[in-house]
Parts: sequence; C-alpha cells; structure tokens
Amino acid sequence: MDKIVALCKRRGLIFPASEIYGGIANTYDYGHYGVLLKRNVVDAWWDAMLQERDDVVALDSAIIQHPKTWESSGHLAGFTDPLVDCKTCKRRFRADHLAEAIADPDSQPEIRCGRKPSQLPGQTDDCDLTEPREFNLMFQTSIGPVQGGGQTVFLRPETAQGIFLDFKTVLSFARRRPPFGIAQVGKSFRNEITPGNFIFRTLEFEQMEMEFFVPPEQAPEWYEHWKQARFDWYTNLGIRTDHLRLRDHDADELSHYSSGTADVEYLFPIGWSELEGIANRGDFDLTAHGNGSGKPIEVVEPDGRRYVPHVIEPAAGVGRSMLAFLCDAYDEEDLGTPEKPDVRTVLRLHPRLAPVKVAILPLVKKDGQPELAQEVQATLKPLMQTEYDEGGSIGKRYRRQDEIGTPWCVTIDHQSLEDRTVTVRDRDSLAQDRVAIDDLPGLLATRLASPWTSPKIG
Ligand code: GAP
Repeated sequence: MDKIVALCKRRGLIFPASEIYGGIANTYDYGHYGVLLKRNVVDAWWDAMLQERDDVVALDSAIIQHPKTWESSGHLAGFTDPLVDCKTCKRRFRADHLAEAIADPDSQPEIRCGRKPSQLPGQTDDCDLTEPREFNLMFQTSIGPVQGGGQTVFLRPETAQGIFLDFKTVLSFARRRPPFGIAQVGKSFRNEITPGNFIFRTLEFEQMEMEFFVPPEQAPEWYEHWKQARFDWYTNLGIRTDHLRLRDHDADELSHYSSGTADVEYLFPIGWSELEGIANRGDFDLTAHGNGSGKPIEVVEPDGRRYVPHVIEPAAGVGRSMLAFLCDAYDEEDLGTPEKPDVRTVLRLHPRLAPVKVAILPLVKKDGQPELAQEVQATLKPLMQTEYDEGGSIGKRYRRQDEIGTPWCVTIDHQSLEDRTVTVRDRDSLAQDRVAIDDLPGLLATRLASPWTSPKIG
C-alpha cells in the first residue's frame, strides 16, 4: 500500500487534503490524473448501467434530504458503531476492533493505546477506557440563519435513500414498471473513526449505487443476476480473477434492511476486503418511507395486482474501486541486468481507465519536431485524452507516462519529418511500431476499443 500511496502523491493523482495545515483525518484530494481516472471509472459504471442496458434510468438526488428520511430508513437509530474512548490518550476505538486486537495483537496493528496494546474495559493497566457507547456515523448540520435555532439535518451517509424517496416520481415520468432500476452517483459522508487505509475508508466518498425494483417473486433471480454482473464488471476492466471473489454474508453480518447480501471482495494489500456490496433489501425501504410519509408506495399492474416492489442493490464506492484498480495495475519490472538493475514502475491499467490514453513526444525540441507533434496531437484530441510532453530525455518521459499508466506513447523523430511516420510505443509489451501519421487515429481508436487482459504482473 505504501508504494501505491507514494506513487499517487508523486504523480499528483491523490494526496492528503488540507496538507498545508497538517492534513485532516481520512480525507484526500484528487489531482489532475486522479480526476481523469475517477471520471473513467464512473463513466464505465454509467455505461454498464445505462448504455449497455435499457432497464435502468439515472437520477441525481439532493445530499441534504428531509430529516425524516433518516428516521424512516433506520439510520438515526441503527447507523452506529460501538465506540470506546480512552481517557488517557484521548483516542477512540471501535469496540469490536479492540476486542480483536486483544485476541490477536497482529490483526489490528494500528490499534495501540498509550505504549501498550489497548485492552477492554476492566482489563487495563495504562489505559482508562470507557464502556462502549453507540456513536452515529451521520454528520449533522442545520438549516437556517439562526445559530443553534435551525432545523437539524444530515449529510447523506448513502445515495440510496434519495432513490427510494423519488421512486414514485420516477415511476411516473420514466414510464417504467418493475423490473427496472434507478442509478445514482454522488458524494456520501460518514463520520468514520477507524484508520482509513488511504482512500479505502474516507469521511466523504463517492458512491455508485443502483436500486433495482422487482416484483417480489423475482427477487432471488435478480439478486443472482446482479451478483454476477457486478463481479464481471471488475474483471472486464482488467482486475485479475484470482484477486476477486464473491462472499455471501453470514446471518449475523446482515444490515438491518437486508435479507441477503454478498460482497465483491478484492485482495487489497491489507487483505481481502469489501469492494462492493450487493444486497437483497426486500421491501424494507419502500415500506418504511411509505409508513414514514403516510403515503404508501406501491405498484399497480395493468391487471390490478398491487405490490410493494422488492429491491436488489449493487452499491459500490468510486474511491475504493479506484484503489482496487490501482493496486491491481501496479507493477515493477526490472529492465536492467543483475549487475545493473533498472526498475521501471508501471501502472498496467485497462486502457479505458487510463487517465491519459496517448502521450505525444517530440524526440528533440527543435527541427520542426514540436510543431509536427502538436499537429499529430490535434488529430487525436477529438478521440481521446492526450498529453504533449517535450521536457527531459525520451527515456524519462516514457517512465513518467508508465507511472501514470499511459498505454501508448507516440514519438516524433527526424524520420517523421521526412516520411510522416511516427513510432507507437506500447506500455505493456514495450513494442515500438512505425506507423503513418494518417493511420494513427484509426489505429489507436481500434486499440482502445479492443478487449484487453491484464498482462502477468511480476
Ligand atoms: N446503500 C448501501 C451502502 O451504502 P455500504 O456497504 O455501506 O452499503 C457501499 O457502502 C460501498 O460504498 C462500499 O462497498 C464501499 O465501496 C463504499 N464505502 C462505504 N463506506 C465508505 C467509506 N467510508 N469510504 C470509502 N468508501 C466507502
């Protein structure tokens, strides 16, 4: 993980927020290449939901909803972690993590209180620990100009609830009936106190959630459908199958709303961890908001049959997906000899996800090469994200592009000015093909659209 974090910072993909003031817990900013990568992940998700199917529609609901939303959804009462405070070191721990740390100190290396591993209340030497207390993860604020006098509201802890609130409206304007889904991408907020492991767990994060509404009897088959579809989404974008698994939750792991949940788990450097959850939420949410608002939510079929749809929910995190793609793509390859190692760091990202698709590099900064390179770039710009770079040796520029995962580098040299050909260097194979400038847009567009499998990473 340290290498990924260092690369992200070095190349300006992702770095700590508010660093000028010493940073703020579990909060990160995304720089130029991070923004491009994030956009590509989100676009790939939208394409899988909207472009490649015709039974899902899009929504963008508000972050601050009516406070009753969270009463009905169960978040006010149930979206809590049991927390223990240490009065000595003033740190706060999740009681279940503390218990694990005592049973196996290596399992939770980040949990240390004072100079000793923390202990549970009643078993302590140095630490002065409180009894566990339920702590709500929602951020609270208020609406209105009067300090302390406004209406208490919450920043949404998941995008899903906005979809349930709008279900009836969407049903009428989208002219759909179940089975169909409503998809949404947006920021959610949770007051997480546990160490975040870079962007794995942050206070604010983007979610990609889709609520798929089905007649109750169809719920089991759609649950299986979405488990497989979401697993395939990651492998189609290059995640190696031996780094990905589907794990069904045990009964005692299920959330208050769920009658069945499976996690897509990825083998992160911190071990197998949840990447995305697929839940069979039953009719919990629509019934809860129907009761809470006093306006029942149900579907009436043309034959007069009435029912509350059941919901299958694939819920993914943008940052967590990015972290998985970055971990899976990270590679170090020694191109030197045993006597003189020469390690190149390369992000073998799926070309579709790569922040920059093609870098245009004049070999030298003179003799008309920069002008021709910019002409080449102009022909590629309408097709894909390009980058022009004329600074430093060509070897260093290739390495820079390798580190941000650029799949192709186009080099303009003295021969290019004579016969209007360029070389195309492939990030993964390092092959260099001589190509006519006129053929370049077609060639790269074809390569970008072609299926891609991750090369073996050393
Ligand atoms: N609507 C269901 C729901 O929100 P969740 O498992 O709590 O389910 C779904 O969240 C996904 O959102 C997770 O699998 C993860 O990818 C992402 N996620 C949740 N909390 C996160 C956090 N604090 N930081 C980053 N990503 C988070």
